Amino acid sequence: MTERTYGAPGLSDPFAYAICLFTQVGSLRGPPYRFLGGQLAAMIRVGVVGAGVMGRNHLRVLSDIEGVELVAVCDADRSAVESAAQLRKIRGYLSSWEMLSRENLNFVVIAAPTKFHHRLTLEALEKGCHVLVEKPIAADLAQARQMITVAQKQGLTLAVGQIERFNPAVRELKKHLDAGYLGRIFQIRALRLGPFPARIRDVGVVADLATHDLDVMTYLLGRPVVRMYSETHRKINTQHEDMVNAVLKFDDGVIGVLDVNWLTPTKVRQLNVLGERGMFQLDYLTQELLFFENTEVPSNGNGAFTGVTEGNMTRFQIRQTEPLRAELLSVLRSISHGTPPEVDGDAGYNALALALSLVSAGEEGRVIELADSLAAVSAR
Ligand SMILES: NC(=O)c1ccc[n+]([C@@H]2O[C@H](COP(=O)([O-])OP(=O)(O)OC[C@H]3O[C@@H](n4cnc5c(N)ncnc54)[C@H](O)[C@@H]3O)[C@@H](O)[C@H]2O)c1
Repeated sequence: MTERTYGAPGLSDPFAYAICLFTQVGSLRGPPYRFLGGQLAAMIRVGVVGAGVMGRNHLRVLSDIEGVELVAVCDADRSAVESAAQLRKIRGYLSSWEMLSRENLNFVVIAAPTKFHHRLTLEALEKGCHVLVEKPIAADLAQARQMITVAQKQGLTLAVGQIERFNPAVRELKKHLDAGYLGRIFQIRALRLGPFPARIRDVGVVADLATHDLDVMTYLLGRPVVRMYSETHRKINTQHEDMVNAVLKFDDGVIGVLDVNWLTPTKVRQLNVLGERGMFQLDYLTQELLFFENTEVPSNGNGAFTGVTEGNMTRFQIRQTEPLRAELLSVLRSISHGTPPEVDGDAGYNALALALSLVSAGEEGRVIELADSLAAVSAR
């Protein structure tokens, strides 16, 4: 293989094979660019903002992706940034602006607390960087809208870390639902329980956890939510809810049910989808997908629904993958190819909009009929 390196002294042979992952750099800014096997390719220079639980996961995965040059990390906490920088052998900064000003980055991952997503994302976009911002996209909808608008104006990727989309069991389920495996769908039900995370104080469990389920539900069904109601509790968190039970109505009549809390002494992450042919049961943690068949459905699925009888159980074979790795690879691919990210700013906005409506429904004790505009964005 012949390789020529441009603008990147010192970055030659050890990385040669790595770059095969990326075949175009139309949307990349800045050196180093290389030719490999006749194709233009580039190392993507990456920085991570926030070296807490999620930031360290991003650093671990990014350090092992071919074609990525992990350059720097930033955290407001000195010991956090020092240990992350030392472990990954990269430069560390206490200020993201300083990191952005000095490092000529192409891509920045924002994994700081949610209340900082807006400012940190705008800073990165202003410096010409593509961004993956952790979920929830922002603290409120005005901030989220501004982030989307600025990214569009700058021609930069804004991806949102709705990581469950990249769980292989969710992908498998989506494939079967799209193929009509279940016939008419009646209900989608999410269970997301676990202990209270003391470090998360800036948002409640709806914005922090239920955004995963709201995003997955709209993604799987491809339909907008038109109505919702919820009941919430604040038991440990004094500022925000730490438990929600909610009912949603999708525009095609499917009922969504959410049971999400930070008050359970064991971690549960499940999703059930019930329809006329049976029920899918998905476990996000084990990446297992089961199907329980209803033997009473007419074979063409269009007849009257006459009854339910227990039938066979099928366990789908799923190749286990780390969702974060799949998510980062997907975002890097879209940056490299200049194509829209799988989970874009609008998807993040939609999940946040639904989450904030659920909080209002719980606090105000009323059913919320969603405006046309929200319903429209839900369907994207
Ligand atoms: N996708 C997922 O499954 C998932 C899982 C966990 C967390 N998250 C999201 O990731 C984000 C971070 O959560 P976490 O669990 O890692 O929290 P964390 O508290 O463990 O880490 C946050 C880090 O950000 C640092 N920080 C605070 N302000 C900063 C600033 N202005 N600039 C740079 N660094 C700053 C803190 O010092 C801390 O080290 C949140 O938005 C959260 O919702 C996503």
